[in-house]
Amino acid sequence: MQLTPEEVKDRLKNKGYLGLEVPKGLDLVTEIKRLKKEKNAVLLAHYYQEGAIQELADYLGDSLYLAQAAEKVDAQIIVFAGVHFMAETAKIVNPNKKVLLPDLKAGCSLADSCPPTDFKKFVDQYPGAHVVTYINCSAEIKALSTIVCTSSNAKRVIDSIPEGETIIFAPDKNLGKYLIKETGRDMILWDGSCIVHEAFSFERIVALAKTYPNAKFIAHPESESQVLEIADYIGSTSGLLTYVQENSATEFIVATEAGILYEMEKRCPEKTFIPAPVEDETCACSECAFMKLNTLEKLYLCLEYENPEITLSKALVEKAKLPITRMLELG
Ligand code: 13P
Ligand code: SF4
Repeated sequence: MQLTPEEVKDRLKNKGYLGLEVPKGLDLVTEIKRLKKEKNAVLLAHYYQEGAIQELADYLGDSLYLAQAAEKVDAQIIVFAGVHFMAETAKIVNPNKKVLLPDLKAGCSLADSCPPTDFKKFVDQYPGAHVVTYINCSAEIKALSTIVCTSSNAKRVIDSIPEGETIIFAPDKNLGKYLIKETGRDMILWDGSCIVHEAFSFERIVALAKTYPNAKFIAHPESESQVLEIADYIGSTSGLLTYVQENSATEFIVATEAGILYEMEKRCPEKTFIPAPVEDETCACSECAFMKLNTLEKLYLCLEYENPEITLSKALVEKAKLPITRMLELG
């Protein structure tokens, strides 16, 4: 079906993706593989994507690995199966590529908790401060930053700032509090958070741990302090994966987005992984609704029609690139 540029614009604005019908009985996996090859496209996917998408990925990893991979991509098209700030980061580090995101509405509650105008006013209150931003933020916030970090390298990034300097950390207050403890550095925190990681219930985790006395409890640092205090291990998604592979325990209670369990079970089929319970017993809150907006159908459509595409002004790319490059140079 042919769409006029106005129709494309309208559909993307209303739906976030083209919303065209996928022919019945189409083998989406075969079609996606064919389109990737024909169009010289690579698929980058985060561990929170559904298993079928993870299986199709050319690069699968955490935020840091995906940013590093995006910078090196040689292919003409990057399809990002993740959320908006991740695809935006790929565009910033490799601006000459066409970067596609299967659904433009795949946002992030943490990135949304930091609006650029408010953040600029906040930063202006502390002249001379180093602004360290977690990669889960918009390009506009990155453009206001000294250096970006991910949960894999945040400690190293903060340690790179000379002692005695003022540091603002944004947007995640939970990760910020954890890093203050880990680095011993006093930081001014922006009051943002992730709805998925704040949904975990401390009481229900404690109760569950009693029924699995040999299980290790592991958590992503976006979780609340109370939850992190009882964790046997705290780390990024790739850190959590390495831990479950290397630790001799056979049972793990996992406090992060439930998509990670797919790769954990794949790497350690003999071990048991239990998603940490959330406050609301009737809700699958440990699933990131934004991440799960990407589907095989949308992935197929986006490759076929090369839309939705991430577009950013040259000026914004230039400003947002510097703090990301500083992070990537630290390794
Ligand atoms: P990682 O960098 O640990 O993969 O985290 C991404 C994320 O969005 C956590 O919610
Ligand atoms: Fe954002 Fe939280 Fe989803 Fe990660 S899990 S993408 S921080 S909303």
